[in-house]
Amino acid sequence: MFNNIKLKISNLKNKQTYSKDKSFIFPEKQSMHYDAVNMDINNTCNQRCRFCFSYFDKNKVYMDVETFEKIIQILPLVRDYQGGGYGLYISCVFEPTVNPQFIEILSKIPKEGKNKCFFTTNLVRAMDEEYIKAIINSNIALLNISIESLIPETFHYLTQTKGFDKYKSNLQLLEKVVNEKEGYIPSIRFISMLLKENKDELMDIIDFCFKHFPSEAHEVRTPMIRPMYDNEWNLNQLLSKEEAKEMVDKLNNYPGHIDMNIQSIEDIKESDLKVIPQEKSCEVEKDHYDIAKEKISIVQDYEYLFLRIEPNGTCIDKLTNVPEEIPLDKTEEYFIKKLEHLYKNKAQAVICNNFDDINNIVEGNPNIFIDKFVDNDIFFEVTGWCCPDRDIISDKLILELYGNKGDKHYYYCSIKERTDVDEFYNEEQGWSVGFTSYFEKSKLKDDEYVLSLLFRNSLNQNIKYEYENILKIK
Ligand SMILES: C[S@@+](CC[C@H](N)C(=O)[O-])C[C@H]1O[C@@H](n2cnc3c(N)ncnc32)[C@H](O)[C@@H]1O
Ligand code: SF4
Repeated sequence: MFNNIKLKISNLKNKQTYSKDKSFIFPEKQSMHYDAVNMDINNTCNQRCRFCFSYFDKNKVYMDVETFEKIIQILPLVRDYQGGGYGLYISCVFEPTVNPQFIEILSKIPKEGKNKCFFTTNLVRAMDEEYIKAIINSNIALLNISIESLIPETFHYLTQTKGFDKYKSNLQLLEKVVNEKEGYIPSIRFISMLLKENKDELMDIIDFCFKHFPSEAHEVRTPMIRPMYDNEWNLNQLLSKEEAKEMVDKLNNYPGHIDMNIQSIEDIKESDLKVIPQEKSCEVEKDHYDIAKEKISIVQDYEYLFLRIEPNGTCIDKLTNVPEEIPLDKTEEYFIKKLEHLYKNKAQAVICNNFDDINNIVEGNPNIFIDKFVDNDIFFEVTGWCCPDRDIISDKLILELYGNKGDKHYYYCSIKERTDVDEFYNEEQGWSVGFTSYFEKSKLKDDEYVLSLLFRNSLNQNIKYEYENILKIK
């Protein structure tokens, strides 16, 4: 029934005969990486925007160029920028151009940075053409520029500083430099807060940016409202649901690429109301699948922006949450160790030590497709999907690995929707469940493993689906 499906997994081509009906699949080598790393090269700013969530410490710290040169050794370990925030934030929460060594720091970013590095600036510091050329000629992938108003009075009111003339002049210089430059220029993207103060001006601002710059996108966002922030001013600036909808409609019809993160005052109030009663009312007893699901989702949350590098050369990871001095004589080693820690933690989150239900297993028809089987220094990762029977509970899944010399392991899976296979299973009138799991390498003793999926069904049985090929790991 499923013979018409071509497995996407490329390494199946290397198959060898195992037995009459079994083939080997081999893992593809993949390097470990941080999805996104967050850094700041100082802890201050030359403005005090009314909407800003940043906290400005009286004790000003500026990263020096020697420290940056060491820390940038993290770059090969960071995933490429591809929108959505992946990559290395050279500066994120504060204003990088106030660092007196900013241009020298930028010059230390190696060529690889063109795929990975970015920062956000308010463009308010006094800059000449040389300064702007140095930014544009540096090895960065993306330059984010904040733009809230092109009206001096509004600009000054919002930023609480008198920087409009410098801002306008820098924008003009930037336009000149970008338009005159031949060859590579970093992508340019603008970010505007949507506030009552600037809502009537917003479409003109967006027009201005797309008209004057080869802008990749324009992001429009409302201020984040978090319990730890002072939200009073921002709450007063949020639009009503109706006003927000009108704005979203306009933005949706805009011909340029707009990213939106817009919440109305009603959205905020509703989300406050939703969180509290729901959590209290549905206290259902959790089973081991639910507990594992929570554990896995926490670990997955850790992956994005796992590391935060501070301007004083310390580093905080989300697992330990304790600031550590980065050893500048062994920076690369240090970042690799941190990465191994992150990966180990992920592999350990899926281990199922308490699967003791082996006498309650019913064999099901195997329809399993594996489209990713990779091998990094810490674990093997298997991603695939299957078409199980109708009465299984899709998020109660355990994966069994059974080695050729009897080594046996059980793992929980992260369950994902696989809309990419919709067409197929609709045709077959079936349904699909996507799964991913990780097998810590140091725990696997055998060379070859049979993989099976054990789904819980409504009768509390485990329906077992055995994958048709053998995972060859050594
Ligand atoms: C914190 S700033 C740091 C970079 C730089 N100083 C700037 O303003 O461009 C980074 C981005 O966050 C935005 N931002 C500031 N306060 C915010 C808030 N409360 N909610 C969401 N975004 C905010 C800024 O507009 C800017 O685009
Ligand atoms: S310029 Fe950026 S960091 Fe500075 S106060 Fe404004 S939003 Fe915050």
